[in-house]
Amino acid sequence: MESFRKLLLANKAFVQDKMSVDAQFFRHSALDQKPEFMWIGCSDSRVPAEEITGTQPGELFVHRNIANLVVHTDFNMLSVLQYAVEVLQVKHVIVCGHYGCGGVKNAMGRKDLGLINKWLRHIKDVYRLYSRELETISDPVARFDRLVEANVMEQVQNLAETSIVQRAWHDRKMPEIHGWVYDMRTGYLKELARMQPGAKLDPIYSFEWDDDIES
Ligand code: CO
Repeated sequence: MESFRKLLLANKAFVQDKMSVDAQFFRHSALDQKPEFMWIGCSDSRVPAEEITGTQPGELFVHRNIANLVVHTDFNMLSVLQYAVEVLQVKHVIVCGHYGCGGVKNAMGRKDLGLINKWLRHIKDVYRLYSRELETISDPVARFDRLVEANVMEQVQNLAETSIVQRAWHDRKMPEIHGWVYDMRTGYLKELARMQPGAKLDPIYSFEWDDDIES
């Protein structure tokens, strides 16, 4: 059997499985979606968002890219974020990194990798921000782990700095932003950061709204 056929077969099993629990499952799920969570994760095949969080179709609105970056000029990520926050009105946005991330690993190196240099450059900027701390860590695995964590923390900040999130904080006191890291060595998720709506930002990144100025 050609390897890809396995996926089509598994899909038939998936349908049967869902129908056996709820015969109306697909009829209902086709009507609408109202996910409570947006997930920004790494494209890595070992970090399947729904599987590691035990979420079902309809629960998680997902964006994945290399090294789970929130780049403020990335129209793809921003479009997903805007739809999630403004239309679906998700309550939580979760940025999830993972130890052993190939994107972070390569960003720590000095090889010219072509186009992807441009993407990994954002992680090099995180390295520079945390370089004093990182360079005190002599164990290379521990240093790599710490950069993975620092990268998540920075992406949480980047999310809070978008006008999309700040406007929603102002108008609806939503969403909450979370920074998590997944450990492929154990299967566990770890909470690193949590940002409540209205959290204080560096003033240079903090937008002013008309009704704030009037009152
Ligand atoms: Co990765």
